[in-house]
Amino acid sequence: MKLLVTGGAGFIGSAVVRLAIARGHRVTNLDALTYAACLDNVASVANDPLYSFVQADIRDRTALDRVFADHAPDAVMHLAAESHVDRSIDGPSDFIETNITGTFHMLEAARSYWMAADKPESFRFHHISTDEVFGTLGETGQFTEDTPYAPNSPYSASKAASDHLVRAWSETYGLPVVLSNCSNNYGPFHFPEKLIPVVILNALAGKPIPIYGKGENVRDWLYVEDHADALLTVLEKGALGRSYNIGGENEVRNIDLVHMICAHLDAMRPAASPYADLITYVTDRPGHDARYAIDPERISSELGWRPSVTLEQGLEKTVRWYLDNEDWWRALQSRDGVGDRLGKTA
Ligand SMILES: NC(=O)c1ccc[n+]([C@@H]2O[C@H](COP(=O)([O-])OP(=O)(O)OC[C@H]3O[C@@H](n4cnc5c(N)ncnc54)[C@H](O)[C@@H]3O)[C@@H](O)[C@H]2O)c1
Repeated sequence: MKLLVTGGAGFIGSAVVRLAIARGHRVTNLDALTYAACLDNVASVANDPLYSFVQADIRDRTALDRVFADHAPDAVMHLAAESHVDRSIDGPSDFIETNITGTFHMLEAARSYWMAADKPESFRFHHISTDEVFGTLGETGQFTEDTPYAPNSPYSASKAASDHLVRAWSETYGLPVVLSNCSNNYGPFHFPEKLIPVVILNALAGKPIPIYGKGENVRDWLYVEDHADALLTVLEKGALGRSYNIGGENEVRNIDLVHMICAHLDAMRPAASPYADLITYVTDRPGHDARYAIDPERISSELGWRPSVTLEQGLEKTVRWYLDNEDWWRALQSRDGVGDRLGKTA
């Protein structure tokens, strides 16, 4: 297949690009290269004849039309987005412009390309989204594809809006779409401002490991390479117009997750005292959702997908990767806002 992947220089997009090429797909990676992008994430495929890169902004309709015309994709995997909740609290406008307006331009460019090609049934627009659109859960229950949307942060509200646009373009114009909503990802190439890299890198530097609030927020973690595999599965086998929740069945409280990471570091790079001694509780994030949990029944029973690693196994691989790839993360630590406490303003 010829794939147009947006956001392929980011964390999840780059995992999709690497896996798609390994499976023999031709990939055009379209990315604006914002602060969150790193072309080193795709260095392993950069010289592959199946790979090409275009620097373009999804808000630039003219550029999008050119990319569709030049690369003639069979399918779009749309991941480009502003993705950090804390940054969305400090500066929501980029989230509105990229996640909502940018998705609108992607849909319009895809629709015009698809119509000019006589509306091929095989074309797909796969919109990649988050479980955060469903809001927060109490102590029990899981998000299903029928859970009503109730986003609580500017980030999740902008992703919810983009999901609605995609659904509308399917219903109104017949654009062949599939959607997926995934839980928190972790793994190699995770940008150093997100929770798991922050824990690993602060621990290695002997700095306080910040825990928001009481650390009791629960997340359902999925290894990024399993997410990439799930996304290709949804693209290839998902039913038209249908959405799929993707999760790792790995629910854990933030504080317990941090203790698991510290235990891996203690084993792999022992320090004078246990890394968990660095844990420090800090002011909570405003609007911090208490618990997310995914019911993966649909993707499991209809598409036969399930994750390949447990959280323990994935965390061990991740900690090892950060220990082995210091050049990668050191180069990103000087980027704007990385290492600062963001998103405190209520
Ligand atoms: N990280 C998670 O845990 C998670 C979970 C579920 C869903 N998602 C979704 O998956 C997608 C990818 O997330 P991620 O964590 O890899 O994000 P990321 O921030 O690591 O990467 C986003 C990429 O999009 C690019 N981008 C941003 N604005 C752009 C624009 N205007 N035009 C073109 N490119 C632009 C960036 O340069 C970057 O390379 C997002 O849509 C996100 O909402 C993320």
